[in-house]
Amino acid sequence: MNYNPSKIKVISAGKYVPETIITNEDLEKLVETNDEWIVSRTGIKRRHRAVDELTSEMATKAAKNAIERVNYDVSKIDLIIMATITGDQMTPSTANFIQAQLGLTHHVMSFDINAACTGFVYGLEVAASLLQTGRFRAALVIGGETLTKIVDYTDRNTCVLFGDAAGAMILEPAFHEHHNAYFFNAARGDTNSTLTVVNKIKMDGKKVYQFAVDAMEQAIHKVLDDAKLDISEIDMIIPHQANERIIQSVSKSTGIPMEKFMLNLAEYGNTSAASIPLTIAEYFDQNEIKGQKILLVGFGGGFTWGSAILQL
Ligand code: UT7
Repeated sequence: MNYNPSKIKVISAGKYVPETIITNEDLEKLVETNDEWIVSRTGIKRRHRAVDELTSEMATKAAKNAIERVNYDVSKIDLIIMATITGDQMTPSTANFIQAQLGLTHHVMSFDINAACTGFVYGLEVAASLLQTGRFRAALVIGGETLTKIVDYTDRNTCVLFGDAAGAMILEPAFHEHHNAYFFNAARGDTNSTLTVVNKIKMDGKKVYQFAVDAMEQAIHKVLDDAKLDISEIDMIIPHQANERIIQSVSKSTGIPMEKFMLNLAEYGNTSAASIPLTIAEYFDQNEIKGQKILLVGFGGGFTWGSAILQL
């Protein structure tokens, strides 16, 4: 089958991170752990916590950050896709709350996606396909989580890993090959409950780790092959920020140097669907945007995994 890539223009990116910080020392008071173990096994030093904030409120702030970066005309936004596993409530969707909080009163299609930590990459692929139809003028794709509300702070295997944040991107349809966007997304239903949330997060860390390394390697190669690009043509890889050692293992197995992977997990920990858009927004904060190619790669519960190549 011929792969007919969607064409999208990346307009902007934004982020929001709550102020309250949980340090490794704070966690030492809750469970039997220590800073040395957490840093050497994960690379995480701090994570942020939403105290009185809802996921939709953080997501709206991330969206506003993206809007303000380019002084965007919000009347153009007619599609909102929200990736989250910690939505405000079952229904209405968190995307609907974001629409209301942004004050959008024109016709907007808005809905949530649950693909765990790969949710944002899933959301991007869906948005790109919908934009390509010509029916929508602009999409807001957001990843946002309040994971600290579902973390079991008596379980040292998981409580050191997760934090809260939101990240957003604005996309428009494009019509030139220059704006080709490539995606790979997949799922493999896991009946062994390796990573689940019924009320709180439960995880077999070792199994997720093994899955993650293979999945990321496969997703990187697949999207590069489909795009007919060499890794040297990619300016930055933005990986899901779960564990620095997972990324080091991927770097080793693929031969891609660590400098090519953007990392911020020391500050935020694993923010699930927010992790990739939060990191993209920091890339926008730190670099002049001038047509760079970025490769996004994620994995998560489900299992799900995916990748994308976007031209900025
Ligand atoms: O977005 C996807 C979400 N999930 C992930 O990405 C998780 C992927 N997995 C991981 O990142 C790693 O497997 C962990 C960081 C969760 C664990 O690291 P590990 O090197 O696989 O450690 P382990 O599970 O093999 O545990 C080694 C030891 C165990 O003690 P024993 O049984 O050897 O005595 C654990 O009980 O470390 C112990 N341990 C801890 N010790 C201090 C587990 N958690 C902690 C802790 N502090 N927080």
